[in-house]
Amino acid sequence: MPYRLTIEPSGHELDCDSDETILEAALRHGFNIPYSCRNGTCATCKGRILSGTVDYGDVEEKVLSDAEKAEGLALFCQAMPLSDLKIEVREIGAAKDIQIKTLPARVAKIEDVAPDVRALFLKIPSTERLQFLPGQYIDILLKDGSRRGFSLANTPNDDALLELHIKKVAGGAFTGHVFSGMKEKDILRFEGPLGTFFIRQESTRPLLMVATGTGFAPIKGMLESLFAQGSIRPIHFYWGVRHAEDFYYESLLQQWQSQYSHFNLTKIVSQPDDQWSGPTGYVTEQVVYDFPDASAFDAYICGHPDMVFSLSAVLEQAGLDSEHIFADAFVFAK
Ligand code: FES
Repeated sequence: MPYRLTIEPSGHELDCDSDETILEAALRHGFNIPYSCRNGTCATCKGRILSGTVDYGDVEEKVLSDAEKAEGLALFCQAMPLSDLKIEVREIGAAKDIQIKTLPARVAKIEDVAPDVRALFLKIPSTERLQFLPGQYIDILLKDGSRRGFSLANTPNDDALLELHIKKVAGGAFTGHVFSGMKEKDILRFEGPLGTFFIRQESTRPLLMVATGTGFAPIKGMLESLFAQGSIRPIHFYWGVRHAEDFYYESLLQQWQSQYSHFNLTKIVSQPDDQWSGPTGYVTEQVVYDFPDASAFDAYICGHPDMVFSLSAVLEQAGLDSEHIFADAFVFAK
């Protein structure tokens, strides 16, 4: 039987299994509380137990002293519940609360997911963890001093491997390498997490999420996090591509559609062939056609700058205040 865990001051409630740390339970449910090492050495996750008892785990006196335990403090990456718990910790709701790190990463897996898209799975050293908000990105640091930014497609709960979706770009030095020379076990360096494209948790407004191409990557992380939280905010997700074969993760999308009645998916192809029977054209036109009054939404938009700017303008014309429009505009990294 799981224990009930209440996080204050947010009041979020969740289940915490008896063999699960408080941090694991929070991340599993999509709530971001501070952490770094996840192995009891950095003290980033130290917080207060307001009520209930915990097994403190194997922690060193210098990281969590007996006096601190007596005061009610615990390391949430180590502590497991022995009863229902109420804890006090400030949930991370802003990028500025997260430490930006420069880390090495090993290429753990490369998967072809669409004709011109590869999913790259990176493993960071076991002594490190990367805290981030779903939707943020990392910069791959190249030897010549240049950088390539890619959104994280996974959730922090699922951070054993960092997942990037890489679009092949003609003449692209880095993406060309990803599609030809890169092998599993190769080592990269990156800096992150970066950016302010993440879900504003304090809002209860319905969500309008729009992606073109690999702009799906951060939206995937955001959606998985919302589903994990048990959020019931209605979600309308529009994904536009040029050709139907550019869509990927078909079975995941189908699973979300059958599992979550509040999730509505519209896929749009701008250059359809005879096989495509769904909507055609550009996401911007489709969204405005479907929502002539967009004033009630929070909109999250990720894709080419032209689409992001035109859709943002059109949504404002449709009554959506700009403070409810969050966007990640990118040109494909080369
Ligand atoms: Fe480092 Fe818990 S995250 S001690």
